[in-house]
Amino acid sequence: MIGLTVVDDPDAAAHLCASRITTAIEQARAERGAAHIALAGGRTPSATYRLLPEVVEDWSDVHLWFGDERCVPLDDADSNHALVAGTLLTHKLDPAPHVHPVTGADGDPAAAAAAYERELRHALPGDPPQLDVAFLGIGEDGHTASLFPDDPVLEERTRLCVAVHGTKPPFARVTMTLPMLRAARQIVVLAEGFGKAWAVGAMLGGESTRIPASLLAAGEVELIVDRAAAPT
Ligand code: 6PG
Repeated sequence: MIGLTVVDDPDAAAHLCASRITTAIEQARAERGAAHIALAGGRTPSATYRLLPEVVEDWSDVHLWFGDERCVPLDDADSNHALVAGTLLTHKLDPAPHVHPVTGADGDPAAAAAAYERELRHALPGDPPQLDVAFLGIGEDGHTASLFPDDPVLEERTRLCVAVHGTKPPFARVTMTLPMLRAARQIVVLAEGFGKAWAVGAMLGGESTRIPASLLAAGEVELIVDRAAAPT
């Protein structure tokens, strides 16, 4: 089930996403002693990441993962790790969250994906390992993480992380697969702007491999959009 939440503008969307993540962190830490959050890549989440240090008061036992990563050096401006390092992690967080970058993707993507899967299986309970929140974006074509339309990886039912060649540059990527993402306790997808309105409508229009974001709905999925991205 995908629930649509429409807010007025990107600032309201960032505040709501930050609030959802904060609540999930507090609940997970209270119930299980730790919180595991997979972060979205791209540019849209930047405002949310800048807000999080103001909203989350205690980062102890918080583990930050990456739903996907581009196969570039972690300090490359195109990497999702650099996005988070340049927003959320610019603040002096004490105690700091445990950040789990996808290491080595710029060298051997398949090996990096396998290593990330081992790290997830070691750190998280459950099979598949269960994130508390998978925070995701959506592309204009309906992709999410680095799961692109009609990619055979959408049929993957065993591996949790794989190397892919996507249609959005940088093309070489490592991504969590649907089994990993769908197992999350909570999925929050953020979309902003007129350019995402078609994909938002398509995501709500039923499951299709043409729209990978439409395949996320195993549990609770909240699609948070500003008015510009809302379906008419
Ligand atoms: C990535 C993302 C990707 C992103 C969407 C939206 O690494 O590119 O994981 O799935 O969330 O493409 O990107 P924007 O927020 O830049 O529109």
